[in-house]
Amino acid sequence: MSFKTIIVEHDGPVTTITVNRPDVLNALNLDVLKEMKDAVWATWTREGCMALILTGAGNKAFVAGADIAQMQGKGPAWAAQFAELGHCVCGMLEKMPRVVIAAVNGFALGGGTELSLACDIILAGNRAVFGQPEVKLGIIPGFGGTARLPRAIGRSAAMEWILAGNTWKAEDALRLGLVARVCEPDALMDEAVKLARTIASRGPKAVQAAKRLVHDGLSIPLDAALRTEASVFANLFDSDEPREGMKAFLEKRKPEFKI
Ligand code: COA
Repeated sequence: MSFKTIIVEHDGPVTTITVNRPDVLNALNLDVLKEMKDAVWATWTREGCMALILTGAGNKAFVAGADIAQMQGKGPAWAAQFAELGHCVCGMLEKMPRVVIAAVNGFALGGGTELSLACDIILAGNRAVFGQPEVKLGIIPGFGGTARLPRAIGRSAAMEWILAGNTWKAEDALRLGLVARVCEPDALMDEAVKLARTIASRGPKAVQAAKRLVHDGLSIPLDAALRTEASVFANLFDSDEPREGMKAFLEKRKPEFKI
């Protein structure tokens, strides 16, 4: 599969997708979203793949939002299609049975913040900048920001981000729990790969089940989430994975999980 606006690389169990439009700070247009949809699906179904890292080309931006030059002058039908595609990509990242790590290396504005919100773990370089500046253009977040941001950082902070449209440094995002860790910019990709490889060495069924439970648990009542967890916990005991994991522990060796 060849792409014009993204770069896809495979390294064992880790796939990296890099949005590659550095001249416009990796802004998202229809072509990028279509290519991402195809690349994410290919990663979803790639045998042996355990983790996906999402990043932006160059040292200035992760993704500086939707492509304003393309969006300008468009009507509701185009906007509906654009939002649908953005939601589709974000939904796939959230649902795919692979761990998705956003390596946010610079500006992550509008659709950039929203893309990172759909990832399971966000690592940020210390020069990263987040924000939902859409109201400055007279529009609103269109790829899930109004729904995912309050869940990630709480209602009041999310309201401030979305209604004032200001930008926020990596350290603010860390304080609010949006990002898991802030790294030196030069170390960001190495840290993301290290984390991806660590996760890839764990029990694959356990990792997939835990990801699903965390996402599903955020949108259902606590009681239901706890019941589902207990049931998934029990079902896992019916597979080879916990047998191998616990046996390896007791034999003081590394487990050999089957992907
Ligand atoms: N869509 C289209 N082009 C964009 C873009 C976007 N979202 N963000 C940046 N670019 C382009 C700029 O137009 C500029 O192109 P040019 O060199 O042809 O003039 C180039 O990327 C570099 O951006 P520039 O604004 O010169 O860099 P900067 O360092 O001065 O500012 C930002 C960086 C991110 C603060 C600024 O580009 C910005 O505010 N971008 C828009 C962010 C936004 O509103 N996103 C949400 C959209 S819904």
